[in-house]
Amino acid sequence: MHGRGHGNLSVLFVCLGNICRSPMAEGAFRAAAARGGLACEADSAGTAAYHIGHPPDPRAIATAQANGVDIADQRARQIARDDFYRFTHILAMDSANLAGIRAQAPRDASAHVALLMDAVEGGASRVVADPYHGDEDDFAAAWAMIATGVEALVQRLLAEGLTARF
Ligand code: 4NP
Repeated sequence: MHGRGHGNLSVLFVCLGNICRSPMAEGAFRAAAARGGLACEADSAGTAAYHIGHPPDPRAIATAQANGVDIADQRARQIARDDFYRFTHILAMDSANLAGIRAQAPRDASAHVALLMDAVEGGASRVVADPYHGDEDDFAAAWAMIATGVEALVQRLLAEGLTARF
């Protein structure tokens, strides 16, 4: 791991299926962290079990690839109890994901749980809409929001480290 150390920062990105938004977020974040010199683990998961073991949706892979990021090797998994202790930050794509995460969070969870877009100044409570039933434009729109979100997230983590709260 290269970059500035901040203890053991680790971020889990969460959506519903873990085949569209959160894989793009993981990939975009890894790229942004590398560019910014931030040392941070990253992973993604879904609140639902539908797609466990599946690669990202081909449209998500194509959208990431068009932005120079390879997410083809990711495989979907479901969020699990130990994620609330393993990760310092658990970031949801939309409000339903956030509610699902909060509903299963152990009382003594150490992870900070929030919306990804809350990392953006003035972005409080904005959500990355589910592109699964949409078209290429919806995937491009999701990528654009995610890219903004992860850039802001990298800056916050560089500045505030483990204590970053939003
Ligand atoms: P994601 O998109 O949560 O961004 O991965 C979805 C993927 C699959 C389904 C819904 C949303 N699904 O209903 O199977």
